This record gives sequence, C-alpha cells and structure tokens, in this order.
Amino acid sequence: MTTSRSTHIMLVLAAFLTGLGLFLGALWYATGNFGNNGVAKASAVGGPFKLINQNGQPITEKEFQGKPLLVFFGFTHCPDVCPTTLFEVSEVFRVLGKDADRVNALFISVDPERDTPASMKDYLSSFDPRLTAATGDRAAIEAVQKAYRVYAKKVPTKGDDYTMDHTAIVYLMDKQGRFVAPFNLKRSPEEAAADLRKFL
Ligand code: NI
Repeated sequence: MTTSRSTHIMLVLAAFLTGLGLFLGALWYATGNFGNNGVAKASAVGGPFKLINQNGQPITEKEFQGKPLLVFFGFTHCPDVCPTTLFEVSEVFRVLGKDADRVNALFISVDPERDTPASMKDYLSSFDPRLTAATGDRAAIEAVQKAYRVYAKKVPTKGDDYTMDHTAIVYLMDKQGRFVAPFNLKRSPEEAAADLRKFL
C-alpha cells in the first residue's frame, strides 16, 4: 500500500516541475491574453464539475464561487503526500483564523472506488473541519481530472492491493473560479496565509 520513497521523491519532483510549467504558462496567459477591459479570458485549468461531498451531497464548482479556492487531488490511502498537503492546508486555515470562513479548500479523490463519501468524511476528521472532500463516479472523476490537467494512475502493489500515482499540485482559483497559479505550501503557514489573503 506504500509507494517507495524514491517514487515519491520523483513524484514530488515531477509535481514541482509540472507546477513550474503551469506557473509559467499562467504567467504567459496572464500577460498575453487580456481582453480590452483587462479581464482575463476563461482559464485553461479548471471548469465545471459534478461531484459528491463527504456528506453525500452533490456539489458543483458553483458552490465555491465568491471565495478563493484551493483545489488538490489525492486519495485517502495515500501514505504521505496527501496527508502532508491536508495538514499544511489545515495550518494555513488555522493561521487565517476567522478569515478561513472566506476561503475554501477542496480535496478531490482520484480513487473513487475506495474513496466513498463516508471514508472521505472519516479521513477529513483528522484535519481542519472547514475543508471539503469530494468523490464521484469514475466518469465524473475523470472529467474533473481532465479539467485540471491532473495525472493519476493506479499502481499495483503486493497482493490485490494498489496505490495511486497522482499530480500533487495545489491549484489556487480566484473568487470567480478562475485559475490563478499553483499555490505554494512549502513555506511557513503565515506566509502562505498572507498570500491567500490577497485573493479575499
Ligand atoms: Ni497522495
């Protein structure tokens, strides 16, 4: 059930390089694709989705509009990358204090066969209660992965078990649901919170 250390290091490196690529792409997009009124056109990352939250209720991207949103993908059986990200986002929320009510964070499963709403809810109980988790049927998950340019692949482990290799980028979306940039959590929660406050 655990991915080897070196695989994880490779994944983190790959995620970083992908993040860098996305960042440069976003920069290009922001500087080269403004309309006459200065409003950026629809972003190439993100878009509509139909998923189920940890309480078993249907949710769409509309739920999150009006507040900046951190979106990231993973799975509850993840040995270290996902719990670390959820912990770091929880730390940012803790530092934001009351302002955390003015932002959203959404953890989307890339392993919907195992990640039922109930298991997502159970998993979230270890983290900040303001985080949202979402799962869905295979088609809905594939659609949202495609919208966010997320890579995810099942990797067999011992027996009938498997783990998931997946993109570990945290996407920052603005109040209008437009992609801003990959959000850097590899800094103090105070610095990350100050950065996030700019989008309130
Ligand atoms: Ni993970």
